[in-house]
Amino acid sequence: MEIFADTSDVNEIAKWLRRGVLDGVTTNPSIMVKDGARDVEKAAREIAEIVQGRPVSVEVTANEPDEMLRQGRRVARWAPNVVVKIPVINEDGVSCLEVIHTLAEEGIKVNTTAILSFNQVVLAAKAGATYLSVFAGRVADEGHDPAELIATAARWVERWNYGKILVGSVRGNLDVQRAAAAGAHIVTIPPAVLDKLLEHKYTRETVRGFNADARKALTDMDKC
Ligand code: E4P
Repeated sequence: MEIFADTSDVNEIAKWLRRGVLDGVTTNPSIMVKDGARDVEKAAREIAEIVQGRPVSVEVTANEPDEMLRQGRRVARWAPNVVVKIPVINEDGVSCLEVIHTLAEEGIKVNTTAILSFNQVVLAAKAGATYLSVFAGRVADEGHDPAELIATAARWVERWNYGKILVGSVRGNLDVQRAAAAGAHIVTIPPAVLDKLLEHKYTRETVRGFNADARKALTDMDKC
């Protein structure tokens, strides 16, 4: 399973790259606003360089499909590892499959975003998306089990050889665990959750015990 950082914060991206666990980055306009990145192009280019060839998803900011297509082509030129994020439908329910298909036919990698159902996975995959972003937290908000959707979708893409199931909208440790167990190909995780995955108070206590005994052993050795 791959791990992506769901952030535009370059310090966090650099930190998790140094730790050796990052396979890519995802962003969206809300993440950019939260992280204070007002110039999307500058932020995307900077992230694309730091991650050294790993994929960086950058979302279009238009609602109109023709404008999404224009933006998608422009965004894709910012760096070779930029993946264009296109929602499966726009805010009015208009299909974005044509945009996804056209970009994919032009050799541009697409991450279809805001996916909340299995049938949206199927259509976006058929249209040519490389990444299929299932929004686990938002699926759960609707009262459905994201693990069931992730498992069905992952089995389906593997069976028919389509794109990868990327699980986003991760809000806590259990979301990561459940997505991994369900067979997600990629989980994109906010830095605050990545920090929480690493931490465990009993691990700290255990290491503290070892260190205390190590100090005692050294003192005892000195006495010999
Ligand atoms: C990632 O690709 C998604 O854009 C992100 O995880 C969405 O998260 P949210 O549902 O918390 O906005």
